[in-house]
Amino acid sequence: MATIGELLMNGTARLRASGSESARLDTELLLGWAIGAERTAVIAHPEWIAGVGAAMVYEDALVRREAGEPVAYIRGLKEFHGLAFSVDNRALIPRPETELLVSEAEREVARRLTSAPRPAGTPPLRIVDVGTGSGAVAIALAALLRKRRMLLEVTILAVDRSAEALSLARENAVAHAVADAVTFAESDILSAAEAPFDLVLANLPYISSGEIEGLPVAASFEPRLALDGGPDGLAIIRRLLKALPGALADGGAAQLEIGFDQGPAVQAAVASLPGEWTCRIQPDLSGRPRLAHVERATIAGRSGAS
Ligand SMILES: C[S@@+](CC[C@H](N)C(=O)[O-])C[C@H]1O[C@@H](n2cnc3c(N)ncnc32)[C@H](O)[C@@H]1O
Repeated sequence: MATIGELLMNGTARLRASGSESARLDTELLLGWAIGAERTAVIAHPEWIAGVGAAMVYEDALVRREAGEPVAYIRGLKEFHGLAFSVDNRALIPRPETELLVSEAEREVARRLTSAPRPAGTPPLRIVDVGTGSGAVAIALAALLRKRRMLLEVTILAVDRSAEALSLARENAVAHAVADAVTFAESDILSAAEAPFDLVLANLPYISSGEIEGLPVAASFEPRLALDGGPDGLAIIRRLLKALPGALADGGAAQLEIGFDQGPAVQAAVASLPGEWTCRIQPDLSGRPRLAHVERATIAGRSGAS
């Protein structure tokens, strides 16, 4: 029987040879998962002996990873915004960069709920997450609002064109105890959603069709519907932007994750919408412009300006 240290060393060498750029990290995560321990324990205890069953699970995981399957699908788990999400090939693996969308959505909801008095009977803020996938954005936001005791002041709808993704999202909502706070619906963009909304959130596909083949092999395990944004990557985002005039309440806003080079094209699409709109592009922590804030001017603002 092999020690953890030996399994780590062999696994890292195999994954490096198969082309993984994160071979050591992958191996630590997969071995920890196989033996039922934290990654830190794997690092701290190279002298431990792995049981026969765990070694077989680890071997199977290594074979899958050598074939390019993402670690998250092998473990069936991905951490996002401090929560553990179940993941499999029904939906995209939530990416760390999408945590910015959740944080900004939380900030926007809190601002709207606290900036003016809300007398009893004020209707809840209506939020929709378009292209919810595993449910990551809607569920993480619901969990944050619950901690801040704001969950009862909002309604959250999460839509996706993929019935498979929605089934995974519902499982995640149950696992995080927000199944009663998030409603899921199959919808092409917002076609099956009952407008208006105060806040539209979206991490829709934004990779151009031509770039898909050049992505790392791990992406080929994810649903194409979750990645392919059409000829210039913005086909679905443009459709959502066009739907905003009919979908947003007066004073409503949308927050959209975009590709780092898509800001000017998104701003041009917003400028062509009927009515008065603003579009601000926010950089992520590494300074890359990744989040579009699209706002519709309020009726009060419009009449005040005229
Ligand atoms: C990039 S993934 C993001 C998933 C999730 N929001 C996240 O951040 O992890 C895009 C999602 O949009 C969905 N999608 C693609 N086209 C759509 C459409 N026309 N209407 C609604 N959802 C769509 C895909 O099925 C996929 O779940």
